[in-house]
Amino acid sequence: MYRSVQHQSVTLSPGRQYFFASLFVAQLKASVHKMAQRASDPLLHSQPAYNNGTLPSSEPEDPSFRLASMVQTQRDKTGMALVLAGTSLLGLSTITLILTSPVPKLFAWHPSLNSLSLVLVAIGISVVQPPTPPPDARQKRIDVHKHVLGFATLLLCGGVTSMYYNKEANGAEHGASPHGAAGYVVLLWMIGQAVLGGIALLAGKHGLWLYKWHRLSGYFFTASALFAAFVGGMLTPWSQTRPAPLRIAAYCIGIPLIATGLAMRVQTSKMSFGKRRA
Ligand code: HEM
Ligand code: HEM
Repeated sequence: MYRSVQHQSVTLSPGRQYFFASLFVAQLKASVHKMAQRASDPLLHSQPAYNNGTLPSSEPEDPSFRLASMVQTQRDKTGMALVLAGTSLLGLSTITLILTSPVPKLFAWHPSLNSLSLVLVAIGISVVQPPTPPPDARQKRIDVHKHVLGFATLLLCGGVTSMYYNKEANGAEHGASPHGAAGYVVLLWMIGQAVLGGIALLAGKHGLWLYKWHRLSGYFFTASALFAAFVGGMLTPWSQTRPAPLRIAAYCIGIPLIATGLAMRVQTSKMSFGKRRA
């Protein structure tokens, strides 16, 4: 038997909405400006491209996260720009969508946490996409990837749990819609993906062969999760009552930009299963 529940709605005054939106845009501008400054620094471009661990690892300065090593070609740069543009659109538009909707608090967490999780997935993957660097730099990038994606997994668990309890509170059936059913698959997949990544690391040298499976599964997972979010944001009955421009910006433009950006940064040489190299 379900109790009827009094929902508290989440809304912000137009002044506060404007404040948060300006804060986000200012932050974005500062990051883009900083990246543009670093990209035009000739010293950064004198860095040699990494070469599958054959270069000496005694660089004068830690190069693991320097822009030149993260975006080595024009294609990588364009891909990274698309990922940043897509994640900004997805994050900003979803938050605005929620802040301008009189929705139950439990419901509000669902799109917010899930979209934030996808933003972190895109950024966490971008960090490990460049060609395999020397071992110490590789380890640092894997550490960032591990923490960012571990946190993203927790966020997705939180986002799905909030919708689960929102449905419980309303006596609604679970996993009844295509989005809901696919969403549970995506959640289990993400947990499995994190466990696989963890096992690969714990197994040390013996786990190197798992990297390829984790990588392949990771890309399929990301495509499925982005698609699930697209369906959630564009095709669920609730979403269709929300302003079209925000939904289009987040799910019809933001999501394809993220997918295209990540796809452009895939190093096809790392996807080969014929060779022993991880
Ligand atoms: C990867 C991201 C997402 C995942 C994994 C996900 C997962 C889920 C799951 C598992 C449910 C069903 C809960 C239940 O039946 O107990 C659900 C429902 C729902 N989700 Fe999502 N979701 C995601 C993104 C989104 C986004 C971005 C939106 C909207 C902007 C959204 C809107 C909804 C709505 C309106 C429902 C209730 C209606 C229905 O069950 O279809 N979701 N989601
Ligand atoms: C749960 C969400 C996760 C997703 C979607 C994901 C996805 C990916 C993808 C797509 C790659 C390949 C990037 C490339 O080389 O092109 C990758 C690499 C990797 N991931 Fe994850 N990952 C996740 C979580 C984790 C976690 C939690 C760990 C560790 C505890 C981990 C460990 C690794 C390792 C060791 C690599 C190989 C990096 C390299 O080849 O240098 N991943 N991951």
